[in-house]
Amino acid sequence: MLKTKGRVSLLNEIEGIDSLKGHIGIAHTRWATHGKPSKENSHPHMDNSKNFSVVHNGIIENYIELKTFLVSKGYNFLSQTDTEVIPNLIHYYYSQESSNNKFLHAVKRACDDLKGSFAIEVISILHPDHVIVTRKDSPLVVGKGDNENFISSDIPAILSFTKNFYLLNDNEYAEIYNDKILFYDKDLNEISKELKNINWDSSSAEKNGFEDYMLKEIFEEPNAIRETIGTKLSIGKDIVLDELNFTKDYLKSINKIYIVACGTAMHAGLATKTLIENLCNITVIVDIASEFRYRDPLVDEKTLAIFVSQSGETADTIAALKLAKSKGAKTIAVSNVIGSSITREADYSIYTHAGPEIAVASTKAYTSQVTLLAIIGLYFSETLEHSNKDFINNIKKDILSLPDKVSNILDNVNCIKDFAKQVYTEHDMFYIGRGNDYAVAQEGSLKLKEISYIHSESYASGELKHGTIALIENGVTVVSIITDETLAPKSLSNIQEVITRGAKTFIITNQNLDDKNFDFVFKIDNISPYLSPILSIVPMQLFAYYVAKEKKLDVDKPRNLAKSVTVE
Ligand code: F6R
Repeated sequence: MLKTKGRVSLLNEIEGIDSLKGHIGIAHTRWATHGKPSKENSHPHMDNSKNFSVVHNGIIENYIELKTFLVSKGYNFLSQTDTEVIPNLIHYYYSQESSNNKFLHAVKRACDDLKGSFAIEVISILHPDHVIVTRKDSPLVVGKGDNENFISSDIPAILSFTKNFYLLNDNEYAEIYNDKILFYDKDLNEISKELKNINWDSSSAEKNGFEDYMLKEIFEEPNAIRETIGTKLSIGKDIVLDELNFTKDYLKSINKIYIVACGTAMHAGLATKTLIENLCNITVIVDIASEFRYRDPLVDEKTLAIFVSQSGETADTIAALKLAKSKGAKTIAVSNVIGSSITREADYSIYTHAGPEIAVASTKAYTSQVTLLAIIGLYFSETLEHSNKDFINNIKKDILSLPDKVSNILDNVNCIKDFAKQVYTEHDMFYIGRGNDYAVAQEGSLKLKEISYIHSESYASGELKHGTIALIENGVTVVSIITDETLAPKSLSNIQEVITRGAKTFIITNQNLDDKNFDFVFKIDNISPYLSPILSIVPMQLFAYYVAKEKKLDVDKPRNLAKSVTVE
């Protein structure tokens, strides 16, 4: 067993790495929950007899109780992790087992004692020909190869080895050999599973000449949006979404729509709230999944709840979905990953087609999510026969123009790079806007802070003077988005207020402004204000990227963050 603290690449430097022998292995990059990042707390963890090794993704909520029990039976613990109880419990049950398949039964008995979430892989020197895996509320996929098989928590990680996957459900088990895979239900009855083929191109999970995945993924946005629109839209014809297939009567029967998600995916909900509300005349509430799940929300059979998740594996979003379903709501999953957990829980699933997103900071998934949610809003509106056909057709034309308009932005990135060079040493930046420009300001601000580590806040422009303007001074940059001509005069007054207090200004706009009044103006094409976030976010993504590059940071793997947040 070899492990170390730090980046995965450091594994190459561990003494003994070249002399590792064997044909099966397990590994895990730990995201510290219990115990600080250290070699002792890294995975795999072994039982005291060193017969069983385990890697685990998730959180064992009752680990203190289990540890106390195991200590009373004479077991010692070497780490501060919750995970270390698992191999020891397996050892404890293994020594009591008399069944034919002692290993599998011991793993199951150990898992029956666990509360919380887990995806685990277990190997044993007593059974050196296979790996046992299981999951509950944490993701795990099994990739089928040719005389070799793979296990991972998500598909992109092993896409270059196979495109054929089995998806494990909660409390199912698999024994993985090089030439066969056996599946079991929660009672260890053998079951068969459908092999799914994922048609993602494996090169889409590689950098293809770009310096970083994030930059590559930003440049993939026109295509991701195009693929997400697919054949769903045509001018003059009603949208048909086979995935949803709702009737007018059903849509008339609902009195509110919830859009629930985390982080960037939640911001995609904020960016489409007004479109859905105005076009359907139904209240839309956008909520944070980790809040929704714990506050007994007013949800019943008259609620339609949409859950948005790129990975489809975010623990809080899945829990929020289960709650809404239990309260009688119809649930829709909007995800980028076919067969992901959220899509298996929801009543209906519909996909963005952004391709694998590898960089931790979400870019093409956001623009694809906003595009898809807008299409869903139009579909509801047409089904309800709520809006004027010409009005809907104009929005459809604008959606179809999005790939070209995003490409226009990408043709013009150098000026953003230059501005990033001027401000990358700053400590505070503010993002402001009104209406949908405020919705997208929140996403712009998140992008900057997560990859550049610069403190940033987003504000509705009109709120600044209610407190936050006290922080505006020389040395602060204010990014302002102005894409709605009806709100532009108001936004411009707010910008004057920050200029007066010494801030630098970066304006993203489709309006004709007098450039010399501002430090940097980036022009985007005109579009319906309902869709403007899909354009205005792109310069903000690039700005965050170039600021982080100036600071020589690892943009693809920012500190403390994981791509899929599969723990609470
Ligand atoms: C930020 C980012 C996160 C995710 C969030 C939800 O760039 O990527 O805020 O959006 O963790 O992830 P998914 O969409 O996979 O549920």
